Amino acid sequence: MERELALELVRVTEAAALACARWMGRGEKNKADQLAVDAMRAGFDTVQIDGTVVIGEGEMDEAPMLYIGERVGGGGEAVDVAVDPLEGTNLVAKGLNGSIAVVAVAPRGCLLHAPDMYMEKIAVGPEAKGCIDITASWTANLRWVARAKGKDVSDMTVVILDRDRHQQMIQECREAGARIKLITDGDVAPAVAAAMGDSGVDILMGIGGAPEGVLAAAAIKCLGGDMQARLKPENEQETERCKAMGLADPTQVLRLEDLVKGEDVFFAATGITDGDLLRGVRYTGNHLARTHSIALRCRTGTIRLIEAAHRLDRKPAWVTGTQPRG
Ligand code: FBP
Repeated sequence: MERELALELVRVTEAAALACARWMGRGEKNKADQLAVDAMRAGFDTVQIDGTVVIGEGEMDEAPMLYIGERVGGGGEAVDVAVDPLEGTNLVAKGLNGSIAVVAVAPRGCLLHAPDMYMEKIAVGPEAKGCIDITASWTANLRWVARAKGKDVSDMTVVILDRDRHQQMIQECREAGARIKLITDGDVAPAVAAAMGDSGVDILMGIGGAPEGVLAAAAIKCLGGDMQARLKPENEQETERCKAMGLADPTQVLRLEDLVKGEDVFFAATGITDGDLLRGVRYTGNHLARTHSIALRCRTGTIRLIEAAHRLDRKPAWVTGTQPRG
């Protein structure tokens, strides 16, 4: 795939972030999400790919745009596309840290078509590659990762979604002496942050969305980090969906290569609200807005952090979040 794709994808995530950022703190997560979806969908029209959405807004009958199976792009190589135009809808609605607009692209068949269910995940950076085992205890993983990073466990920062289902894990991490950041939503950005040097995050652990797991895995692959996961089907229907994907044992350990295959992987994200990974959209006056994005290309391992100033008076209203599209 052409290397320019990395930058083209940033335009797509910038558009989604700009479209919904004005809705920060306004308590309307669905409205913000709709604007982001709309802008991202339109943004794809100019990207030279023949994309099929494999991680998206839902099944065709439940999402009008960016649904699973939808074709996106202006034509080109056949690719799988994973999107989350607004990852962390509650975060935007409440004006909290950590929401991003995010996309990942890989050749067709290379992204796990993860159903919308829970997934247990553990994500780390390149120093700790090969030092995680999701079947072992959380304490053991903390110790292995700390050792690989030349740290004490008490120097480690673990990010965990603040959910009742994680009480046991939180307790274990506290007993091991690790520092913990409990987040209310949005586990893609901290997983990516764990794989970026100097982000202040050492490891993401816990159960979150499976689609978000694949998005994070794409970035971690590009960054040379490591991730393991296990789907957590909660009923017979979800178990059947896993089997239909070809997973004979729905709870088998998924390694990075199972989540995202090959080296032709691209990832882009733009901050909506501030976070450990990216700054959020800033309105700087005189019709200007600043965005902060990351563009990753696996084949070269290049990390681009892109700060852009956008002239809002030269963009259509659906891009600036002031009016819905159409
Ligand atoms: P949104 O779909 O509202 O953006 O929420 C995303 C998210 O917080 C993910 O980052 C996380 O993986 C998942 O939801 C957690 O699910 P739950 O809120 O059910 O614990």
